[in-house]
Formats: sequence, C-alpha cells, structure tokens
Amino acid sequence: MTTGHERFLKMTAAAPTVLPSLLQCDFGNLEREVERLEEAGVAGLHLDVMDGVFVPNFTYGITIVAALRKLTDLPLDVHLMMVNPEKYIDQFCEAGADVLTVHAEATDDLPAAMEQIKKHHVATGVAVNPATPVSKLAPALPLADLALVMSVNAGFGGQSFMPEVLEKYEQIRQLPGGDSVTMEIDGGINAGTIAQATDAGAQLLVAGSAIFKHDDYTSAIESLMSQIRVEG
Ligand code: DX5
Ligand code: ZN
Repeated sequence: MTTGHERFLKMTAAAPTVLPSLLQCDFGNLEREVERLEEAGVAGLHLDVMDGVFVPNFTYGITIVAALRKLTDLPLDVHLMMVNPEKYIDQFCEAGADVLTVHAEATDDLPAAMEQIKKHHVATGVAVNPATPVSKLAPALPLADLALVMSVNAGFGGQSFMPEVLEKYEQIRQLPGGDSVTMEIDGGINAGTIAQATDAGAQLLVAGSAIFKHDDYTSAIESLMSQIRVEG
C-alpha cells in the first residue's frame, strides 16, 4: 500500500510544479473538478483547511479530505490553517492526507506535531505567514519534509503577492534541517509572480485564482508552468 510519504515524494519529483489550491473550485462538482485537474496533469492537490479561528475564514475538514481520497490517487497536500492542529492530525492522516502542513503560529510544540504526523507515514510540513520570522519554524525543520512560505496572509484566495517573503527561502536553507526540505509557496502566484518565486527557491507553487478564475484549467496551468525557468 502506497504511503503518504511515498506519494509526497512522487509529487516533489515533478518540482518545480504548480499545485492547484482547492479553495475557489466548484465544490458542488468536486468529482468533475478533480477529473479536470487530473487531465491538466497536475502533480498533486493543495487542500486549504480553515477553522474560522486561526484565520477569519472557514472552509472544510476531514470529510472532504476523505472524499477527495476516494476520488483521486493524486497526492493530497493538506494545509491546516487551524489552531491546535495536534487535535486533528491523526484524523487528517487517516482521512488520506499525503503531506500535512501545520502553521508554526498555531502550536507550541512543532516537533511533537511533526512526530505525530510521521507516525502515519505521512510527509510533514510547517508553514509561516508573511509576518512570522523563519526562526519560528526552526524547531520543526529537522523533522520536516516541506516548508511552506506564505506569500499572502493565510485565509483567503485572490490576495496580492508579497515579494518580501522570498528572502525566507535562503534563510531557511541556512537553518539546521533547512537544506533538505522541499520549499513551497502559497498565495498570489500567477504568471507575473511565479518566476521570481521559483528563482528564490520555491519548488511547489500553489495557485488558486490563477487557475480557477479561468474556464480551461489545462491552459491556465500550462501558462503558469511556461513562466517557470527550469535549470539545465
Ligand atoms: C490562502 C490559501 C491559499 C490560497 C491561494 O490561505 O492557503 O492556498 O487559496 O489562492 P490564490 O492563488 O488566489 O492566492
Ligand atoms: Zn494554502
């Protein structure tokens, strides 16, 4: 049976790559949306879980992750924007998350949260909002597979890209454990911002509006990918 961590590795093997953020998609037709994203050739799906407390917005939870698990074999990159994530880590892993990312601002014991995720053979992620220094996620890095640098304040799609966060990738690389994590960026990624994000070190590029405001997901994703300069 494929573990979450194995599916995470499959997703990262495609890096640098665009991951669609399921926040502004048509939740009334989730099966069709997933089919269209699979046809577009995405390497994974980014799921935005919001609790209305950590962020002033509320989206979906364990049942939707479990529903998506039944719909697709694509890696599920679950972004927990919630307080006390440790209360629900087990359930999100059992529901089918392949990488589970907690916010450094949302728990007092990042290493414990990472260990709890690892128990399920799911990849571990840690995220920081724009105003949070990378020192806040440092305790997680030796146990993290992924570091998510938010380029908008978590909570909503359609916000403007904040380029000042890009210096965090180099800062993370300098920290113990920072040299081996996969780097993700999330928020305001579009044709005009994706190149500077990858140039700064982002490897997984989450995009919401830049995909879902278009009818044709394949061409929207292709136009984003065409902006990514791949070395070699
Ligand atoms: C915001 C979410 C992002 C957001 C991205 O809290 O974590 O994934 O949906 O949407 P865009 O690409 O429109 O900024
Ligand atoms: Zn997100």
